[in-house]
Amino acid sequence: MRTDDDSWDITESVGATALGVAAIRAYESSRDDALFHDPYAAKLVSAVGNDGWNTLMAGALSGRDIDDPDLRGWSMGSVLIARTVYIDEYFAVAARAGIQQIVILAAGLDARAYRLEWPSGTRIFELDQPKVLAFKARALADDQPAADRREVAIDLRHDWPKALLDKGFEPDQPTAWLAEGLLRYLPGHAQDALLEHVLELSAPGSRLALNLGTGHRELSDEHRERRSQVMAKAGIHIDLENLFYPWEDRQDPRDWFAMHQWLVTEGDPVTLLEDRGRTVPETAKAGMSAHILMTATKPRGDDTL
Ligand SMILES: C[S@@+](CC[C@H](N)C(=O)[O-])C[C@H]1O[C@@H](n2cnc3c(N)ncnc32)[C@H](O)[C@@H]1O
Repeated sequence: MRTDDDSWDITESVGATALGVAAIRAYESSRDDALFHDPYAAKLVSAVGNDGWNTLMAGALSGRDIDDPDLRGWSMGSVLIARTVYIDEYFAVAARAGIQQIVILAAGLDARAYRLEWPSGTRIFELDQPKVLAFKARALADDQPAADRREVAIDLRHDWPKALLDKGFEPDQPTAWLAEGLLRYLPGHAQDALLEHVLELSAPGSRLALNLGTGHRELSDEHRERRSQVMAKAGIHIDLENLFYPWEDRQDPRDWFAMHQWLVTEGDPVTLLEDRGRTVPETAKAGMSAHILMTATKPRGDDTL
């Protein structure tokens, strides 16, 4: 059960979802036809020292049990892979546009500060709960980030703008923001507050990428039960739907940013994968395409919408 001031370590509650997505990135990275390479994902997952996460990482749990396209298990991992590709490209475009200030909201075990190429002078702020960032710092203690990486250990329902400014964030510089795998873990009013803060802190030319499940074809009880059993057998106890806040209680961020005069563009997880040679089962397509993957850009004075 979620509460307004809950907190967690990496294997608990919402913290464990960061491990789950890192395990899927590690599995994808290990495939011969991998669409990206995240060598840090395996290192981070192994650092927990729990066989269940290693099993998930090895792809063993993405077999038939939870990988049934009719039951949407397939699409969950695939959306994650598509969004990784989409966001990697988003940052490459932002870097080419000259943006040198990056803010990763709910960074979890995202290793982009280590694995992507960043122009010199780039500063990357990573925000997440203190214990999550502490785990990551321990696991990657021997690794060098590829940019000036700064941790901001804070709950995103608290006064994170002050904490960010205290770490050297410059609001008059354009920023590339990221909110990946975050919004459904916030109630609607906290999503509103978070996005309002992004608006306030964004110089012209800033942009933000996010993803958000729309609750389209939520899992049947039968699939939830089956997925929980498979995961529990491997020693992983995570009930995703109970960690989420409802889609219905929030504003659609596409409309919200458009209302604030930001230019919104969307990516489609199915097209992203098919364009790169992946076959997407017909039964998984509608659910995957209902997942929001978007970028919003605040116009510079000379841009027109
Ligand atoms: C599914 S993971 C995504 C992590 C990362 N963005 C990625 O895609 O790999 C969700 C992350 O959101 C963080 N998170 C959720 N709610 C938060 C809050 N209120 N304050 C700080 N972090 C939060 C969790 O700690 C976790 O790291």
